[in-house]
Amino acid sequence: MQRFRLAAASLAMALPAAGSLAQVPDALQVRSWAGACANCHGTNGNALAGNEPLAGMKREDIVQKMQDFKNGRKPATVMHQLSKGYTDEQIAAIAGWFAAQKKGTP
Ligand code: HEC
Repeated sequence: MQRFRLAAASLAMALPAAGSLAQVPDALQVRSWAGACANCHGTNGNALAGNEPLAGMKREDIVQKMQDFKNGRKPATVMHQLSKGYTDEQIAAIAGWFAAQKKGTP
């Protein structure tokens, strides 16, 4: 009985942790998603002249713009296509990553 109670208690502690792992992608994963934006938006979001910098932009603004591209509300040449390849969770995570980058020179 003692052993059963112990197992039940550790299961109860393990479950919420497993649940949050499934929802929150780890840092390396998010960085590699953001890496797909680097060709055009620069390393760490500091774009060369002519492209939109994303570093230090507000997280909500990036999310909003990505959603607008996705839904066709914001006119685009490429972003309407690209944005459709990401889930809302991925967009939120990538936006958070760029928001946390320092604005700087490319
Ligand atoms: C092939 C080049 C390319 C790639 C890759 C790319 N973008 Fe873009 N991005 C653009 C261009 C060009 C624009 C201007 C809108 C348009 O014409 O599509 C833009 C605009 C944006 C904007 C709006 C900026 C503003 O201030 O209006 C955001 C936000 C953005 N991109 C996020 C991303 C994210 C996040 C990724 C990676 C998942 C990404 N982009 C990958 C080319 C790219």
